[in-house]
Amino acid sequence: MSTLENSTVSILGAGGKMGTRITNNLIHAPLQLLLCEKSEERVATMIERNLIVVPMEEAVPQSDFVILAVPDIYIKQISTEVAPLMKDGAVLITLDPAAAYAEQLVVNNHSTSIVAHPCHPSIFLEKYTREEYDDAFGGVAAKQDVVVALHQGDETKITLALELIKSMYAPVETCHVITVEQMAILEPTLVETITCMIGTVLNESLDEVVNMGIPEEAARAMLYGHIQIALAVALRGTNPFSDACLIAIEQGKEAIIQPDWKKVFEKEHLDSTIRKMLKLC
Ligand SMILES: NC(=O)c1ccc[n+]([C@@H]2O[C@H](COP(=O)([O-])OP(=O)(O)OC[C@H]3O[C@@H](n4cnc5c(N)ncnc54)[C@H](O)[C@@H]3O)[C@@H](O)[C@H]2O)c1
Repeated sequence: MSTLENSTVSILGAGGKMGTRITNNLIHAPLQLLLCEKSEERVATMIERNLIVVPMEEAVPQSDFVILAVPDIYIKQISTEVAPLMKDGAVLITLDPAAAYAEQLVVNNHSTSIVAHPCHPSIFLEKYTREEYDDAFGGVAAKQDVVVALHQGDETKITLALELIKSMYAPVETCHVITVEQMAILEPTLVETITCMIGTVLNESLDEVVNMGIPEEAARAMLYGHIQIALAVALRGTNPFSDACLIAIEQGKEAIIQPDWKKVFEKEHLDSTIRKMLKLC
């Protein structure tokens, strides 16, 4: 029976943002790790860190797992080059659902492809150490969950892949196995189109009140504290919003939110967003 311990794992794009994070987590794992990187600048940084970089043509054919930590807009081109190099039964792992959802991920018939995306540590996570507080992204000290989806191929490969995915994004609490389409609804729609967008609106709102002459420290203190309590009440029902606050919320929705905003969850809207993200139009 194959185990992670006698597996060979390649990371393509090992010098990028995710590639570096995953390398840092897998470098001491009991597996053979092969690092591939195209940018000369990033290769130089990796060499400074005593990391060995090998060509993709050498790494992929001997790998049980190939992790594509490359920009989503290049996944079609890179997976087209990688697919014929992969050995029978190997697993290709991508880190974002966009390319797989938009049918840009090329996989040969003898391989399995899986998408694995980190959830990042929850704002409600119980944290005990300085390192956990500092690890907003996850993958260092704060626990996070991961969403995982089979894109194509042999679903029995998921069990071993989950072991690797937990090491890539460690420390991991739970891996949620869902479909590629469900993952695309979560990201971009739920977490980028809506949540990250609202984050930027909060920041612009802070700028507005500071420009109106309110001391920035006071404004930041009010905003940061109220972000925490607003999310605790809205998402967890820790205590009710006050009656006056409920009136202000309705006023805000009327002034800011378009009545048909939930159209962002429709397939047409999602497809259009992903095509724009992948620069397909
Ligand atoms: N950055 C994030 O916060 C984040 C979070 C979750 C998932 N992701 C996903 O991770 C993946 C990588 O994103 P990133 O932000 O780390 O990108 P990045 O641009 O930081 O890094 C990509 C790396 O791939 C390298 N590369 C490009 N073509 C290559 C090739 N043919 N062979 C080898 N290396 C090649 C680049 O030189 C670069 O170092 C994407 O699928 C992205 O959606 C990113």
